[in-house]
This record gives sequence, C-alpha cells and structure tokens, in this order.
Amino acid sequence: MVWSRTNQLIAAAAAELGARAEPLGREHTDYFMRLSHGERSAIVSKTRSPFLTQVAQGLANNKHLSRELLRARALPCAEGVLVDEAGDIAGPVVRALLARHGRLVVKPNWGNRGVGVATDVRDLATLARARERARAIDLDEEVLVEPFIAGTNLRVAVIAGEALAAVEVVRPTLQAGRSAAAQVAALNRDARRGTWSTPSLCPIDQIEADEDLAGHLEVYELDLEAAIPDGREVEITGDELAVIDRTEEVHPEWLAVAASACDLLGVDVGGVDLRGPLAAFAGPPAAAQGSALLLEVNVVPALHLHALPTEGRARPVFAAFVAYCLQLPGAPPPRAQVRV
Ligand SMILES: Nc1ncnc2c1ncn2[C@@H]1O[C@H](COP(=O)(O)OP(=O)(O)O)[C@@H](O)[C@H]1O
Ligand SMILES: [Mg+2]
Repeated sequence: MVWSRTNQLIAAAAAELGARAEPLGREHTDYFMRLSHGERSAIVSKTRSPFLTQVAQGLANNKHLSRELLRARALPCAEGVLVDEAGDIAGPVVRALLARHGRLVVKPNWGNRGVGVATDVRDLATLARARERARAIDLDEEVLVEPFIAGTNLRVAVIAGEALAAVEVVRPTLQAGRSAAAQVAALNRDARRGTWSTPSLCPIDQIEADEDLAGHLEVYELDLEAAIPDGREVEITGDELAVIDRTEEVHPEWLAVAASACDLLGVDVGGVDLRGPLAAFAGPPAAAQGSALLLEVNVVPALHLHALPTEGRARPVFAAFVAYCLQLPGAPPPRAQVRV
C-alpha cells in the first residue's frame, strides 16, 4: 500500500505531531485516512476536513455563482459570462467581450486542475472549439468566458480562516518551432517531475501528453506531433513549471481577501487562486485597480504546493491541517459554515 503524495505529507505531519495516520478499511483507498491522537480521532479525505459541508463544496465548485456572491461582499473577483448548455457562445454578450478585450479565457464552470481551460482565445472559431471542449468536461455543460488577465498565478492556502502560505504557480508554455510532443518530452526529463503510478515526494508532476494535452491543442487547431507555427505559443493550464513560495511577498490585504473568500463560502481548508501581475500582489488590492483578481476558491486544495515548492521556503501547512482536523490544543475551531 502506497499513499499518494498528499497523503504521505499528511501522514508525515501527523507523525511529527505525535498523531497516527491509518488507512480506513482493508482495501487500500487514498480517499480516506483516519487520524488519531490520544482520545481524538478524525477521518479526512485528502485535504478535506471532517467539517466541510456538501453545500460549501458545491458552492465553491460553481465558479460563476461563488464569484457573484463574493463580489457582493466587495471582494475583487474576475467577471465572466456564463454560457449554459443551450446558450449561444457567439451571442452579442460574448462578442462584445471579445471586441473589448481581444483575448478571452474559456473554462468549465465546474472544473478543476486547469483541465479544459483555454487561455488564448482571440476569434469566434477558437471560441466555439474551446466551448465544446470545456462543455464536455463540465458537470452541467456550463462554460465560463472571461477576459484574459495578464500576469501570473498565485495560490493562497487558507486553514480555518487563516491564510498560511502563498505560492506563485508558473505554467509551462510550448513555444513555436518544435512539436508539442518533443517539448513535453523535454519538460518530462526534469527529475523533479513524478508520476501518479509511483507516488513520491516530487514537487511537480509529469505532463501527460496523450490525455489532456491533445484535446487542448485541438482547440487551437494544433497537433501533438507537428511543429508549433511561428508566432504562436500554448500555455499548458493544467501543469506546473515552477512553484515559488511568495508568502512573505504577498500584501496582507490580499491574504485577507483569500481568507474572507474561504470563510464566506464555508470552505475551512481552501486554496484560493488569484491572477494578476506579481507586483500588484505586493500592494493592497485597491492599488491594483482591477488588474489582479480572484479566480476561484478550491476545496480539497493541493497543499503540497506549499510543502514542496520548487523554489523558496516550505510552509508547514500539513501540520496546520492535521492539528485543525484533530482539533489539537491551540488549533482554530471548526469554521465550515456558509456565511455568504
Ligand atoms: N482569466 C484568466 N486570465 C489568464 N489566465 C487564466 C484565467 N483564468 C484561468 N487562467 C489560467 O488557467 C488556470 C486554471 O484556471 P482556474 O480558473 O483556476 O480553473 P481551474 O478550476 O481549472 O483550476 C490558471 O491557473 C491560469 O493559468
Ligand atoms: Mg484553479
């Protein structure tokens, strides 16, 4: 039996706190783990606490709705147009958005891990293909269309109302001149990339060219094996090139935005995605003037990003997670009520 990277990190943090981490049931499953410490015991599901409600989870997973609710509470969230399964992607609202911004992002409204997210949509034909791909991935066939936000990605870890860590997540970008397959093969030679099949404490993962990437390239009418044409590049939205600890550099008011977003949605253990120029996160949100915005609140966040950054300091987020789930002395109380 081998735990996944996340569960290995939970188990290691538990051991350091003098707690036990055990599998649940005789058949190995990575979905559940029993934590115990003296009389205390808690069952966690990856980085889901025992306190998280189904309502909070569903709300946070609905990007469009959760952003609307957070915006009403004065949090700076990206604004998008929701196109439902029967909607017209080339209708006047989306056309106006394209004319105004020139570059759009299309994503499943209920997606995760960057799968089905197209970030370089500049014409109606690409828009239609991006929509088909995102729709096929979304649970309710709903697609979100929004302006491209220049800059980088920040991920903030929040546990029980406290923003504990922030990393910058840099995505790999395929360049013109060589095929996507060759470039992915080169990226995959990076010894820091691990695989799901043999879980280890590698900070980043192998890029699986055949699965998501082929479909992603089709949106741009590109092929895995053909050279990417001059003047083009393709961001791989579901993978990482570098994960850089930025905890000390992010302005406390941005950390407060992340903490409030989780708190309002009832997400006690969350990962908040922010997007904008790195410099904008060094100052308060008001100074960013809309150039930096909240993209989404993730439940079951990838806390390993903070424990195993490729650059900068590791942050003890797993210890905080275990202490919170077990309610060890000094840990914050359960904080999973939806308050929006
Ligand atoms: N509006 C945007 N502008 C620029 N890039 C974006 C935008 N939205 C998403 N992305 C890119 O796609 C990634 C995944 O987007 P996100 O909204 O977090 O969806 P998911 O739920 O799939 O994680 C981001 O980390 C970023 O690299
Ligand atoms: Mg995300």
